[in-house]
Amino acid sequence: MSDAIAAPATVKVSLGARSYDILIGPGLLQRAGAEIARRLPGVRAAIVTDANVAENHLATLQAGLSAAGIEAAAITVAPGERSKSFGTLEEVVSGILDARLERGDIVIPLGGGVVGDLAGFASGIVRRGMHFVQAPTSLLAQVDSSVGGKTGINTAHGKNLVGVFHQPQLVIADTAVLDTLSPREFRAGYAEVAKYGLIDRPDFFAWLEENWQAVFSGGVERVEAIAQSCRAKADVVARDELETGDRALLNLGHTFGHALEAATGYDSARLVHGEGVAIGMALAHRFSARLNLASPDDAGRVETHLAAVGLPTRLSDVPGDLPGAERLLTYIAQDKKVSRGALTFILTHGIGRSFVAKDVPTSQVLSFLEESLSQ
Ligand code: GLY
Repeated sequence: MSDAIAAPATVKVSLGARSYDILIGPGLLQRAGAEIARRLPGVRAAIVTDANVAENHLATLQAGLSAAGIEAAAITVAPGERSKSFGTLEEVVSGILDARLERGDIVIPLGGGVVGDLAGFASGIVRRGMHFVQAPTSLLAQVDSSVGGKTGINTAHGKNLVGVFHQPQLVIADTAVLDTLSPREFRAGYAEVAKYGLIDRPDFFAWLEENWQAVFSGGVERVEAIAQSCRAKADVVARDELETGDRALLNLGHTFGHALEAATGYDSARLVHGEGVAIGMALAHRFSARLNLASPDDAGRVETHLAAVGLPTRLSDVPGDLPGAERLLTYIAQDKKVSRGALTFILTHGIGRSFVAKDVPTSQVLSFLEESLSQ
């Protein structure tokens, strides 16, 4: 069977009237038009992408849409996090309005998390909320940012501070496009895949320990890992769409990770998001062991697996100098709320047994960071 006609895996995000499917499989961009036309007959579209993704995948998506009679304008933004800005949002909004799309027409973000967040936000505010179909092209976007309806941009005050919850009508995750990612980018996305096992799916984590090489090389294991990740995320989003509780579990590893991203000046040559999350997850497990909440053996297993796939797990794995423990704590406190000398963290009782800890004393975080900086 050719890749282009293999049946995709389908994961449903159950949100009542706003429920939608995530389609996962190789060759899906080629038949995106048919999948969209079946669910949203008669729509017109605006594809929002970045210059790098456009070069590799725009023509394929346009041909796939056109085969189903879907007209599509293309709006191309500059690659990179800087495009999550008010200026680029205005460009995207103008492009959608120039294309004369109506509320029932669709915006299609084709790209990684930046394009998905930006164009998803634009679709959430143009004409007070248009339809949109996510077409994520990075592993991170396929397993995390394209699912669950978080959209937004950054401001001088910080990341993702302006945006809306706006669910797509469909997510089309073409797993063949992941072959165009650099090994480093694929690995960084894999950190988020491993995260779902560590949050509440210990069997999935054990499966990844056995099968990660096949996931990296493509084929059915890759589709399976992405489908399992999307199922895990869909479950959490269905329970807590607006992050009033459990959805915070998806931030496992992100408290330390965001602090490291900030401490390295968001310099992707030193650290990309998924690498920060990998170090953050290893630290969260070691910290939990240090607080006698979990066994050090589990922390060891997490570190061994992440290191086996080539992800960093220690502060000393970050190239260049890091600030001291006090300064790192300041970055953590900026990212998360501090309440009466205590911080909120995602900690764990073991692999697949994460929980939200709302009262972690800053003094314990500080001494753990001091110890970790010396390792
Ligand atoms: N990426 C975390 C969330 O969607 O809640």
